[in-house]
Amino acid sequence: MRKQIAAANWKMNLTLDQGIKLTGEILSGNIELHDHQQVVFGVPFPYLIAVKDKIKEKANYFVSAQNCYFQKSGAYTGEVSAEILNSVGTDYVIIGHSERREYFNENHQMLAEKINLCFENKLKPIFCCGEPLSVREANEQNDYVETQLKESLFHLSEQQLTGFVIAYEPIWAIGTGKTASSAQAQEMHAHIRNVMASKYNNDVAESISILYGGSVKANNAKEIFSEKDVDGGLVGGASLVASEFLTIIQSLK
Ligand code: PGA
Repeated sequence: MRKQIAAANWKMNLTLDQGIKLTGEILSGNIELHDHQQVVFGVPFPYLIAVKDKIKEKANYFVSAQNCYFQKSGAYTGEVSAEILNSVGTDYVIIGHSERREYFNENHQMLAEKINLCFENKLKPIFCCGEPLSVREANEQNDYVETQLKESLFHLSEQQLTGFVIAYEPIWAIGTGKTASSAQAQEMHAHIRNVMASKYNNDVAESISILYGGSVKANNAKEIFSEKDVDGGLVGGASLVASEFLTIIQSLK
């Protein structure tokens, strides 16, 4: 079975103490994860080492950065490279979140370069895609997401894409309390898998974990995750509350 993942995206929230406390509360939920299930904490850069240390005894728990820079190294004051992230024990990196695309003008090409740097530095990308409301209203979401995949992923090899992680996050559902229906999520996830199967092959497409993101909560996770092509979630707001996130983890297939 392909990996089923509950990934927390803390965004720019929580102090270090609060983050460590939250991580502790989630670990003490003592959820028995199956081999195909993973929990990922997407934390602010300064907390990576501390959260990694906190989870080190636990199998199937991982730490993720929320971004990395698209250049290898050098005079880029304030930026953090994939190599730096690897050197502090980071497992995953969220790439191309819609907030980064929108507020920091990240384009397809930059994201492709970030993904290459992740691979060079043994980091697993979580590649985000998803359409804004205007595109959904015009019913052009399939083409929109296909372009995002094509422009940032299609240079990768079959081997690199085997077991890859994509997060579909319709922008109109992020932080709005308005979730895509499980049918809408399933429809797009199946489309993403088809796009990858047409460019590569079925085996590659079937191996990719496709997470849904956008107002996933304790009370809707089970229904969304039960869809055939939904392999867990990328969770913002609800990942900041231990009881919510624990229920979301327990909702994994
Ligand atoms: P949300 O955020 O769960 O608060 O909607 C999801 C995300 O942006 O990853």
